[in-house]
Amino acid sequence: MAVVETRKDMYQMSYEANIPDCTLCEPGADLRVLGIGSGSGETDSAILKKLLQRHSSVYNRVVEPSGEMIGRYKALVREDTSLGAVRFDWRQQTAEEYFQTKDDTKFHLIHAVHVLYHVEDLDATLRNMWGQLEDGGYMFVTMQSGKGGWGGLRHKLWEKFGLGDRLKTWCSTSGDVKQRLDTRGISYVTSLDTNNINVSECFKENSENGKLLLDFLTHTPYVSSEAEIKAMALGYIRGNSSSVDDKILFSAMSEVILALKNCAKA
Ligand SMILES: C[S@@+](CC[C@H](N)C(=O)[O-])C[C@H]1O[C@@H](n2cnc3c(N)ncnc32)[C@H](O)[C@@H]1O
Repeated sequence: MAVVETRKDMYQMSYEANIPDCTLCEPGADLRVLGIGSGSGETDSAILKKLLQRHSSVYNRVVEPSGEMIGRYKALVREDTSLGAVRFDWRQQTAEEYFQTKDDTKFHLIHAVHVLYHVEDLDATLRNMWGQLEDGGYMFVTMQSGKGGWGGLRHKLWEKFGLGDRLKTWCSTSGDVKQRLDTRGISYVTSLDTNNINVSECFKENSENGKLLLDFLTHTPYVSSEAEIKAMALGYIRGNSSSVDDKILFSAMSEVILALKNCAKA
């Protein structure tokens, strides 16, 4: 079911475009990159290819808890000869496990693309990422924006059904990251990427694909059996979608946040 109304290569091109050209690195040394929650590697490989335009060798540490995802990422690397100058260091761990390990390696680029919803503590993870960044290095984070439909749905669900600290749940958005950086006096630049999710199936009675998509959008397994959450979510989605031809399109707005570690402020 093609639900996201954007082409995968365009999505990856957008990551390439947002990665800085002029990442600092000592002459002759590897450029060191840390990927948090790399998944199956499509986004990471687009980032690596951009870096390889300027750097002849890259050391890439991959932190990803899912063995299946790491397996897919390794298969992608085997098939893509253009990544030959990258030395991979695979760590099958959560961010929490990884940051508990003592390691003095500093990285020139640390990225977390649509991952920070899953960490136990957003603030602690950002602090740990920043701590492993080399002076003059970049931290690159992407999350849904609360200004888009899907990010807004997270806020609504939290308002109505959430418990505890929202920043320790899936309902965090890019605004939370920016607020944390602002509090610590870290400057950053941002850009927004919008795409549409075809949610038509969610509104078809008894559509199995629709049920699965609604589970995914609400991050709630079997949400169709939770009448109150389902009604709220469908109402919100309907009110924040547009109808195009016979499709109902729900907007998702990704925000890219790029922060430079300025030696003077770090
Ligand atoms: C939405 S995917 C994003 C994958 C990839 N960054 C991308 O943009 O294609 C989220 C990834 O975060 C990983 N993940 C989940 N919990 C995590 C945690 N606590 N620490 C690090 N990664 C985590 C998942 O296994 C999954 O691969």
